[in-house]
Amino acid sequence: MNDTSVKSAAAPPAVALAGVNLSLGAGAARVHILKDITLEIGRGEAVGLVGPSGSGKSTLLMVMAGLERPDTGMVTVAGEDIGRLDEDALARFRGREVGIVFQSFHLIPTMTALENVAVPLELAGAADAFERAERELAAVGLAERLAHYPAQLSGGEQQRVALARALAPHPAILVADEPTGNLDEATGREIVDLMFKGQAERRTTLVLVTHDANLAARCHRVVRMRSGRVAPAAASEAVKGAKGAKGAMT
Ligand SMILES: Nc1ncnc2c1ncn2[C@@H]1O[C@H](COP(=O)(O)OP(=O)(O)O)[C@@H](O)[C@H]1O
Ligand SMILES: [Mg+2]
Repeated sequence: MNDTSVKSAAAPPAVALAGVNLSLGAGAARVHILKDITLEIGRGEAVGLVGPSGSGKSTLLMVMAGLERPDTGMVTVAGEDIGRLDEDALARFRGREVGIVFQSFHLIPTMTALENVAVPLELAGAADAFERAERELAAVGLAERLAHYPAQLSGGEQQRVALARALAPHPAILVADEPTGNLDEATGREIVDLMFKGQAERRTTLVLVTHDANLAARCHRVVRMRSGRVAPAAASEAVKGAKGAKGAMT
């Protein structure tokens, strides 16, 4: 036994941000969006990310997902310092370890539901991409919709496809940016139930941006942002008796 083996015995957090700063925009329009963000999220943990509009929630998700590189600071996902990866390696890493669900679904309109899920798996090198995609779509209740194009699906169905696509590679983290924002309440609840179920079954880490306090309360922990900063720990409360995410941390 040496120091290295002792260190590696403790599982690293799923996501760790240390001293992250990010400005976007050019010239006078440049905005310092993320300010000294330091945050750790455990494996299998579900975190609700809340805060006023413009506080930096979406930008923070993009940094965690490796879609924006911070100006300073370190971002570690599933033990990988993603700032050290070049663009190709980062894209491959995202394909394996990061699932993303957006408010507006972001499906490829010229692909069927099955292709939307299978093609990214195939690009990531999965030999059984179409079989796996079929199983993932069945798991979100879309076994009868495989050959439908996005325009032929309801909003709720499109978001189910997006969720199946995000979870299909068994990513280390699933980030969701107001995933129910374009859905009615009942449909949104179905999507959220499926999201927590998929997350718990796979022990995926979930970071969920939402304006819905009830939805945030279903996470293990709520993190609040204000003006580009994570609000002090007292305000980033643990949620007692989190129901939807129950079991994910056992
Ligand atoms: N590409 C960009 N260029 C300049 N400013 C941006 C850019 N993206 C976001 N912003 C600004 O950063 C702030 C935070 O945005 P965002 O992360 O979308 O907040 P939230 O998701 O909490 O509503 C906002 O003031 C927004 O206008
Ligand atoms: Mg946002």
